[in-house]
Amino acid sequence: MTRRAVVIGTGHYLPQRVVENAEFARTLDTSDEWIESRSGIKRRHFAAEGEYTSDLAIAAARDALADAGITASDIDAVVVATSTPDMTFPAVATQVQDGLGMTGGFAFDVQAVCAGFVFALANANGMIVSGQARRVLVIGAETFSRIMDWTDRATCVLFGDGAGAVVLEARDGAGTSDDRGILASDLNSDGRYRDLLYVDGGVSTSGTAGHLRMQGREVFRHAVEKLAATATTALDRAGLGAADVDWVVPHQANLRIIRGTAQKLGVSMDRVVVTVQDHGNTSAASIPLALSVAAREGRFAPGDLVLCEAIGGGLSWGAVVLRW
Ligand code: UT7
Repeated sequence: MTRRAVVIGTGHYLPQRVVENAEFARTLDTSDEWIESRSGIKRRHFAAEGEYTSDLAIAAARDALADAGITASDIDAVVVATSTPDMTFPAVATQVQDGLGMTGGFAFDVQAVCAGFVFALANANGMIVSGQARRVLVIGAETFSRIMDWTDRATCVLFGDGAGAVVLEARDGAGTSDDRGILASDLNSDGRYRDLLYVDGGVSTSGTAGHLRMQGREVFRHAVEKLAATATTALDRAGLGAADVDWVVPHQANLRIIRGTAQKLGVSMDRVVVTVQDHGNTSAASIPLALSVAAREGRFAPGDLVLCEAIGGGLSWGAVVLRW
């Protein structure tokens, strides 16, 4: 018997306000045509004043718990992947824990920017496989609108707010790649590239939250190659190859990166979940949002092999291979 972390529920939440590309053209030298052709993004959601990352996370968590048919008291641990916490501390995860009415278990945040959800999933898997937790709520939640420089057209048109969540549960498997649940993962970071994508503020430096800065073309240059490599490594660890993949659920930063990675892996685009046109880049929330939207659309069948891959600031990147 091999213990596996199986997805038993998914959920998501998007703030009510939808901002179309054309809205940016009113204040910036940009256009709907430029944004869509360069990134694939058509619109994104922005959180309302007074609506925080924890609010988004709690709503997504409630949705995932309902989907799994369990209650918060059935959860042992809450892990939130975010780079836009409500406050420097405590962790958003503890706010989620309290918001759900949980008084037991443990809760913490993971910060690996856009790769955060993949890092959180891999860690939650480790906790389940090692017996530290039986059911883990893994959430990606972000309010990137709060760290945008609204005068920088190269970044502020790309990001959005939202949250997605999955419930993982320990199940017994046979130890083969036919098992349901997380089969393998691969995580990487290379801090030499930290200046390519960062926030120019923080607790220990400016004492402010700061604004996102990105050398987009340089990040793009790394993305396809590193994503294809990490996906291949994770598949290899599971004893599988790209031909076995039923669905790719990539980080939703740029449609050209998503297409390029799929092409490099040899996976056809009708097997790739794409939500970037409606959500923009929601950083750590993008994969769980896409997972939940696709699940609600009934796109995943039990037993489907799902590959999640992401890259972001750090640079940090990774992949998780799981069977639905
Ligand atoms: O989620 C974390 C990981 N992040 C990513 O994966 C993002 C990776 N990078 C990208 O997605 C793309 O590089 C961008 C979408 C950010 C930019 O696309 P690009 O094709 O790499 O464009 P570029 O940065 O090379 O810019 C091309 C031109 C520039 O003008 P010049 O220098 O050629 O005259 C920019 O100034 O487009 C200009 N530009 C814009 N024009 C109209 C930049 N932003 C805009 C804009 N509207 N919003």
